[in-house]
Amino acid sequence: MTTNAFGIYVHWPFCLSKCPYCDFNSHVRHAAIDEARFVRAFTAEIAATAARVPGRTVSTIFFGGGTPSLMQPATVGAVLDAIARHWPVAADVEVTLEANPSSVEATRFKGYRIAGVNRVSLGVQALDDVALKELGRLHNAREALDAVAVARGNFERYSFDLIYARPGQTTAGWAAELKRAIAEAGEHLSLYQLTIEQDTPFFALHAAGKLVVPDDDAARALYDTTQEVCAGAGLPAYEISNHARPGAECRHNLVYWRAHEYAGIGPGAHGRLDIDGERRATATERRPEAWLMRVEEHGHGIVSDEALTQEQTADEFLLMGLRLAEGVDPARYARLAGRPLDPKRIAILHEEGAVETTADGRLRVTLAGFPVLDAVVADLAA
Ligand SMILES: C[S@@+](CC[C@H](N)C(=O)[O-])C[C@H]1O[C@@H](n2cnc3c(N)ncnc32)[C@H](O)[C@@H]1O
Ligand code: SF4
Repeated sequence: MTTNAFGIYVHWPFCLSKCPYCDFNSHVRHAAIDEARFVRAFTAEIAATAARVPGRTVSTIFFGGGTPSLMQPATVGAVLDAIARHWPVAADVEVTLEANPSSVEATRFKGYRIAGVNRVSLGVQALDDVALKELGRLHNAREALDAVAVARGNFERYSFDLIYARPGQTTAGWAAELKRAIAEAGEHLSLYQLTIEQDTPFFALHAAGKLVVPDDDAARALYDTTQEVCAGAGLPAYEISNHARPGAECRHNLVYWRAHEYAGIGPGAHGRLDIDGERRATATERRPEAWLMRVEEHGHGIVSDEALTQEQTADEFLLMGLRLAEGVDPARYARLAGRPLDPKRIAILHEEGAVETTADGRLRVTLAGFPVLDAVVADLAA
């Protein structure tokens, strides 16, 4: 395990249309986006961040969104160049870009590869045309699979996302869809349970009884199907929603889950920077145009920059680390918190079958404990 991983997250905040379930910081603009202006602002924010945390070696870079596959490859290349001017970049750096699986976007994949991207993550969401329509997606299943094929032709590493626990979904239907997906997948799949997020059109429809999603028991059965089918195909979960062949995990997301250091660049990006022995939580202005103006005026878009207390740092370590199948190292918790985890609480969770201790002394949540992860973390946290 890398102990000094340093990741850089770059946020592209635009999409062609807003999906009715999505509450990410993504915006639709009808006028053309001035990418050159964004490149200048990204470059300024990278320089400002490097001045605060110099000397790190960049191990992972992740272009997330929004829809980063709407960026011109030259824009992506310019951001990567700016990063390389300010920090040494590891020879085996992982550079991921999130892409929507439309034919137009797939035509840019080669350009991304030439620019330095070496992994793509495609938002396929479903392999069923009716479900894709319901989810408000602009692509159909054929187009998505064609984009996966283009990804496979251009990148050694690719992944795609599916959303399950959709209205009316049965375990048999999901198992069949998942098997088709696995046949197309390389080494990695992200499988998210549909979440009804506040302030989305799905929230209003759900509240009005017009969108019925599987209840807790049905969702649990779909989750169990997911684990069975994926583990059977050699893609076990390494995190609640992420499956990979061993060794093919997304290293950037592991930076978050293992509570390593990362910089957040772009509108609404979050960072965790270790400065003068303190862990600082940073966040930038969310609104794209306001972020641009702020960066142009101040050289960065940060609107919140707080030192976390020992307890907050330790709790965050638990919250993130217990999402992982590998669990957490109790000794690292003790160092962060300044005191060990409460053995009585651990004993109770052990008895309930929610957690287990591995042969090398790590604490991890069991398969039975995962659906109640929030409660387990709340029980253990400071
Ligand atoms: C921020 S999106 C970026 C990817 C790209 N824009 C796309 O949608 O294809 C990352 C992933 O989050 C997942 N996601 C977004 N909203 C969700 C929700 N309400 N419930 C479950 N998964 C969701 C989708 O699978 C999506 O691919
Ligand atoms: S799911 Fe992806 S494409 Fe849809 S609005 Fe969210 S970020 Fe944009």
